[in-house]
Amino acid sequence: MSNRFVIAGPASQALAVQVGNILKVPVVETEAKKFPDGENYVRLNAEDEARFKDSEMIIIQTVDFPQNDHLMELFYLISIARRVGAKRIPVVVPYLAYSRQDKVFRPGEAISARLLLKLVEAAGATDFITVDIHAPEIFSEVRIPCHNLDPMPLLANHLKGRELVSPVVISPDKGSRDRSKKFADLLGAELVLFDKTRDRITGEIEMVGDVKLDGKDVAIADDIIATGGTMATALKIAKKAGARHLYALCTHALLIGNAQYKLGSIGCEIVGTNATSSPVSVVSVAPIIADHFKTA
Ligand code: R5P
Repeated sequence: MSNRFVIAGPASQALAVQVGNILKVPVVETEAKKFPDGENYVRLNAEDEARFKDSEMIIIQTVDFPQNDHLMELFYLISIARRVGAKRIPVVVPYLAYSRQDKVFRPGEAISARLLLKLVEAAGATDFITVDIHAPEIFSEVRIPCHNLDPMPLLANHLKGRELVSPVVISPDKGSRDRSKKFADLLGAELVLFDKTRDRITGEIEMVGDVKLDGKDVAIADDIIATGGTMATALKIAKKAGARHLYALCTHALLIGNAQYKLGSIGCEIVGTNATSSPVSVVSVAPIIADHFKTA
């Protein structure tokens, strides 16, 4: 589509500029603030609304912390695009908060992730594009096309310059086996499978992994590092098993509370993507988002 714009949501400004530069399309700035009563406000920084008529407005807005503010901004941006007459409104949400609430784990819960996707559709999005979502199963409840982009080649490339010695990729739990297998193949590494159980009430983790890693370099690539508990538990087992260097990679670095300390004190390097904003978000997902639109 020739009449195309990238809308830089307040939560993904740098990423939106990178995508706009790769695609060579104009990037529209947005302004966001909160009213004294806590309500969200967002507007396109554009006086001439008529230029958006019949265009494609690619909205890029991640939904990381503060997630409820970023969600409201996202809904309002979609509604603005609709109001100004955009023909297509693809919505890029590199990280969708609540994505781990993808099913009922305990009676009485909401399936928040599924509801959010329905709200994105109801607001007027014509396509939903995300990166390494926790449970792609949530796509089944909406009619708009959904795309889950794979950042593992980008993360693997990041490690390739490190001259890894006898690299081993550890899959910390059942949910990450496919991702870990792909990551191990990309690195040409051996794959080791651990098992994890999490107490649904306390959040406490138990992990089983029996392995010998003397002198080997170990990488774990997960979708999310939240409290760091999953990574820290797996990396401690790897360290005890003799691993040389430890790498904790993820698509979505949330790094809640003392996660950085927890992982740093084990002696690992943490690497994340700019699907979320964090001090370790060093790998840009702009190339895979731009590639999606080059072929779309
Ligand atoms: C779990 O299934 C996910 O893939 C991540 O392993 C998990 O969300 C990480 O959370 P935390 O860092 O709190 O252990």
